[in-house]
Amino acid sequence: MMSPRILLSGASGQLGLCLIERAAALGVDLISLDRAALDITDRNAMTHALTVHNPDFFINAAAYTKVDHAEQSAGKNREQAFAVNATGVANVAAACAAQNVALIHLSTDYVFAGQARHPYTETDSPSPQGVYAASKLAGEKACVEQGGRHLIIRTGWLYSEHGHNFLKTMLRLAITKKRIAVVADQYGCPTYAGDLAAAILQICIQGRIGPAVGGLYHYAGPTVCSWSEFARIIFRQAQAQGQLAHCPQVMDISSANYAAAAPRPAYSALNSTKFQHTFGIKIPPLKESLNAALYALRHQNEN
Ligand SMILES: NC(=O)c1ccc[n+]([C@@H]2O[C@H](COP(=O)([O-])OP(=O)(O)OC[C@H]3O[C@@H](n4cnc5c(N)ncnc54)[C@H](OP(=O)(O)O)[C@@H]3O)[C@@H](O)[C@H]2O)c1
Repeated sequence: MMSPRILLSGASGQLGLCLIERAAALGVDLISLDRAALDITDRNAMTHALTVHNPDFFINAAAYTKVDHAEQSAGKNREQAFAVNATGVANVAAACAAQNVALIHLSTDYVFAGQARHPYTETDSPSPQGVYAASKLAGEKACVEQGGRHLIIRTGWLYSEHGHNFLKTMLRLAITKKRIAVVADQYGCPTYAGDLAAAILQICIQGRIGPAVGGLYHYAGPTVCSWSEFARIIFRQAQAQGQLAHCPQVMDISSANYAAAAPRPAYSALNSTKFQHTFGIKIPPLKESLNAALYALRHQNEN
């Protein structure tokens, strides 16, 4: 398939914006729909969108991603999280299966309990600890149950020049603070959303989603570190690039002292070997990806 037609939901989110930019750079035919244009909780709207645009692939980047918020308001937010991440995904998967559109759906490293000491593989058993994580696992199950051609890509710790993320928060805090307290007892794989977007588009260009190449994959950056280690790496690299006048001191704190509403896995590193081997796509090293994100941020600020 030389020039696939792709329909994207969640277009104004972090990954959605990266997909739009990368598709434009690659000359890929991507139609992007934000929540106002397509609410995935509306089953008829989902079916209608596929009928109107007739895509080869549907990328579902839409999600309820407020991890802490999902735990609050006596179950009301839990309902919202499941409405989007479980029922909404079931709508997406059902419509794609009915119209034979290959679905690429995103899930999360938070489906794991976090007791492992090796990066999780696709065969490790999930055991979600919070509402967001449970709703995302329910979405994965919905994709499988609908029986259409699909890829589920679990990722984690996304950062980029777009949306809200750890990289942007750290750079913002660094302008005003000499010392920053960062959680040191949660480990994961920082993943550049720009790399993930490029990889997803590459899969669409390859056009191979079917019985032989389908199902569950992990995609995450190759470095395993804690949030506080990631903060130090960010500051060192931003300073080396001349984007920070000084490196703030990073103070290690425990998750217990951070007091987030949602439990998070202590360890949620993902093993991406299956993804890289199946699709022939190499995930770049952290330093290279972080440089790309920092460069894009500097470019944004200059314009
Ligand atoms: N960010 C991470 O670190 C991370 C880690 C692991 C996995 N993931 C997964 O990766 C995917 C992309 O994440 P992201 O960082 O790009 O998230 P994001 O920035 O929060 O974007 C999610 C988008 O989904 C939209 N949305 C929410 N409810 C919707 C609905 N009912 N119908 C249509 N659109 C809806 C949101 O629109 P509004 O802005 O209007 O609310 C938002 O634009 C998600 O599946 C997420 O679970 C993310």
